[in-house]
Amino acid sequence: MNSAAVAKKLFVKTYGCQMNVYDSARMADVLAPLGYAPVPTPDGADMVILNTCHIREKAAEKVFSELGRLRPLQEARRAEGQQMLIAVAGCVAQAEGDEILRRAPYVDMVFGPQVYHRLPEMVARAARTGAERGAAVLETDFPVEPKFDFLPELSAPPGAAAYLAVQEGCDKFCSFCVVPYTRGAEYSRPAAKVLAEARRLVAAGAIEITLLGQNVNAYHGEGPDGGTWSLGRLIRALAGIAGLVRLRYTTSHPLEMDEELISAHRDVPALMPFLHLPVQSGSDRVLEAMNRRHRADDYRRIVARLRAARPDLALSSDFIVGFPGESEADFAATLDLVRETGFAQAYSFKYSPRPGTPAAAMQGVEQVGEAVKAERLARLQALLGEQQLAFNRASVGRRLAVLFERPGRKPGQFIGRSPYMQSVHLAVHPAVHRAAAADDRIADGSQALPALGRLMEVEIAAAHPVSLAARLPMRPSALSVMAHGE
Ligand code: 5AD
Ligand code: SF4
Repeated sequence: MNSAAVAKKLFVKTYGCQMNVYDSARMADVLAPLGYAPVPTPDGADMVILNTCHIREKAAEKVFSELGRLRPLQEARRAEGQQMLIAVAGCVAQAEGDEILRRAPYVDMVFGPQVYHRLPEMVARAARTGAERGAAVLETDFPVEPKFDFLPELSAPPGAAAYLAVQEGCDKFCSFCVVPYTRGAEYSRPAAKVLAEARRLVAAGAIEITLLGQNVNAYHGEGPDGGTWSLGRLIRALAGIAGLVRLRYTTSHPLEMDEELISAHRDVPALMPFLHLPVQSGSDRVLEAMNRRHRADDYRRIVARLRAARPDLALSSDFIVGFPGESEADFAATLDLVRETGFAQAYSFKYSPRPGTPAAAMQGVEQVGEAVKAERLARLQALLGEQQLAFNRASVGRRLAVLFERPGRKPGQFIGRSPYMQSVHLAVHPAVHRAAAADDRIADGSQALPALGRLMEVEIAAAHPVSLAARLPMRPSALSVMAHGE
């Protein structure tokens, strides 16, 4: 039987980072030739994939409760003589595969982030043995072949703002982090493959690409010239692709901010003035215990060099409070670093011990109590929140180029991103919409209106804690659809 002829429903639920979002889309690509098409809910699905995250506490518990909710749906399908394959993918699968199969024996497939290119074969095996207890497919090894070489072409249009994985894995072994264990060693895709995928994305409608990697600035891919390319070099080459107007990259490590990358922020207009550069702590003692391999002052110096290269660069970061042994003075050093640096946005977390990591096994170091962690997190978030609001307020009255990516809740609402990664909301009154469309002073009325997938200049009218409200520039004839740059 030709299974590709039958449309099957695939529901994918994604947890965690953008790499997981990317992986989920690639899993859909891999399954498309088998006849699977994505659906928005798990009801009646032929296959459900939970693409999981293991970075912080409670991740595994969330997966188990979701599995508990799926089980009756699977049973209902079975009662109708249908199958619902349930798969757990991603980092929880990698770290706790056996535990998942023990606690949720109705799961059909468990596989880690490095093997989803083998999904067709796993699906065939699971479909054969699906009804038998204890016959689930478990694949959590790190294969020698890089999965990227086996991924098919895009099965769905990428959207105006697309992701592109250029690097995966991490060799840094920060003492708190599971990523080196769940994602494996650093691997960089050859530059020619990255460039080819970027061209395909642009041809399919993307005008912004975010380069992804757990340690994206550790990129050291094989260049078309046989040499090794850094991320800075790769960005310069990508910027040459016609129609690719915006470039971003995430997530970076301070140790890998080399001159070639820093100067790309000065030289490459398509490289957006926003950088997520996690620092975790402002205390040298804590940074050392975290095995970050840099001091707080190194971070300050890197920020200064970046800002010299691109004065309007907006910074984001990650912070952990309550790492084992963190004193009030250590925490105060983090607050100092935040005050001096000034962040446009940030993520901050309470430390949670992750099984198998060195920090979780630290002996003789005082653990920080839950109440102290909560209190420090609240103080840090208050400060970061103030900084974000101040940054947003400074945008009011400015004209910013916004890439509108999705509709808002009401008709005429558009949501997009500023160059600085701020979420921008624009509401166009339907009457204005119609009037502007009918305005023959505008050569092509439809083009002058905000539209999804388009980059437009708007005026920032108000600032909120985590977003901006925009309006169209006053005179309709001043509307401009931007073709290049910001
Ligand atoms: N506890 C708390 N936060 C963590 N992160 C990673 N591991 C842990 C942990 N064990 C945070 C770091 C990292 C972000 C993705 O998640 O800040 O940069
Ligand atoms: Fe985890 Fe550190 Fe690697 Fe980031 S650099 S993924 S925090 S080990």
